[in-house]
Amino acid sequence: MAAETPETQPTAPKVISNDPWFGMYADRAEVMRASEIRALFAVASRPEVVSLAGGMPYLEKMPFDRLSELLAKMLREKGDVAWQYGSAQGDDHLREQVLEITALEGITDAQPDDVVITNGSQSGLDLITRIMCNPGDVVLAEAPNYVGALGVFQSFQVDVENVPLDADGLIPEAFEEAIIAQKKLGKKVKFLYTVPNFHNPAGVTLSVERRPKILDIARRHHVLIVEDNPYGLLGFDGQTYPALRSMDANQVVYLSSFSKIIAPGMRVAWMIAPPAIRHKLVLANESAILCPSNMSQMTISTYLDNFDWKKQINEYRGMYRERCDAMDEALHEYLPYCSWNKPKGGFYIWLKIPEGLDARAMLPRATTARVAYVSGTAFYANGEGTHHMRLSFCYPTPERIKEGIRRLAGVMDEEKATTELFGTVGRPDPDPRDVEHPGPASL
Ligand SMILES: Cc1ncc(COP(=O)(O)O)c(C=O)c1O
Repeated sequence: MAAETPETQPTAPKVISNDPWFGMYADRAEVMRASEIRALFAVASRPEVVSLAGGMPYLEKMPFDRLSELLAKMLREKGDVAWQYGSAQGDDHLREQVLEITALEGITDAQPDDVVITNGSQSGLDLITRIMCNPGDVVLAEAPNYVGALGVFQSFQVDVENVPLDADGLIPEAFEEAIIAQKKLGKKVKFLYTVPNFHNPAGVTLSVERRPKILDIARRHHVLIVEDNPYGLLGFDGQTYPALRSMDANQVVYLSSFSKIIAPGMRVAWMIAPPAIRHKLVLANESAILCPSNMSQMTISTYLDNFDWKKQINEYRGMYRERCDAMDEALHEYLPYCSWNKPKGGFYIWLKIPEGLDARAMLPRATTARVAYVSGTAFYANGEGTHHMRLSFCYPTPERIKEGIRRLAGVMDEEKATTELFGTVGRPDPDPRDVEHPGPASL
């Protein structure tokens, strides 16, 4: 047999990578990408930078002295429990306490057994996707969408299909059209992922009139709703909205968290789910982490048992309202040619910048000018969002917010001048993910 000449031998495709394990990863790891926000924190957490980027609650007013005394007592008395393994479903006492919180949004029929404690809602999103979705299944989600949820869906190789929002939140007709369109394509729509209150990043709230319509559509098409509600108690005027879960216990898996209403460091959150789904969530929690940390859960319980948490949440609301007002005023003063909806609660303003400007491309110029924001592109799976940015008002003081917006206006002016001179073509496309040492991961 004639020897093959070098020309006819099949050659392996040449891939250049410094990673010795390249080619060995699971498909789901190959598609994982660093979030634009996390990478940005290396820059945004420098003290000279006004960060309008992260979703970190402002904790300086927390009563840490008194809390540390109470925690010392808790450890003296129950250290053997706090330092021990616990239940995969979560601590009994904490599961009762979370029901007092969710009752504020009309969930009055849930029992402690319906609750699963998770390592932050981020872990809850992972669990529900893990038990519901196969690669290629469809999740419907608002566009723009919480970046951390996008990361989870991507890691499970789920197709995220956008459902548009307007000032009243998710549009019911668009939700139904999306379900029908996906069914026609032969796709399985596993759930709708929605953040109904003070949306991250869009700032909008699903109107009370739309809520039963969304539920009705979900029931008719047998689509589960995953209601992610970390900001629901942070309405600036103390207003709350009826949770979707309060209107239908079978159609909704509800998630909420202590991260924004108390503090994120303990990584304690919860889900409320119908029995069959709850059973699978507990199994999934067990296989992922064995059990949520007793120490963290008991720390949160100690706080809830000993402090007036409703008063504290009220103080947070007042503080965030002041900051939102400061941002809104500064935007009117410095960036009147942009557009935005002033939110009624939560942490974020979703700013539309003029056509021709590209929020992602402008970011290096912004960080050089010592202001950081998150480009709208982080909140879409499909590259949209270049004409938007998310501005967070939760962490900086009103004075810093004003200064940050003033700096941002300077950046936009320079950027407009450059764009007019050179156009957008030929400008290098900087990637904020190139930052090497990300800071805290508040999304
Ligand atoms: C909409 C939304 N869901 C979930 C999370 C994750 O929260 P947790 O800190 O409980 O993991 C966040 C955090 O920013 C969020 O904004």
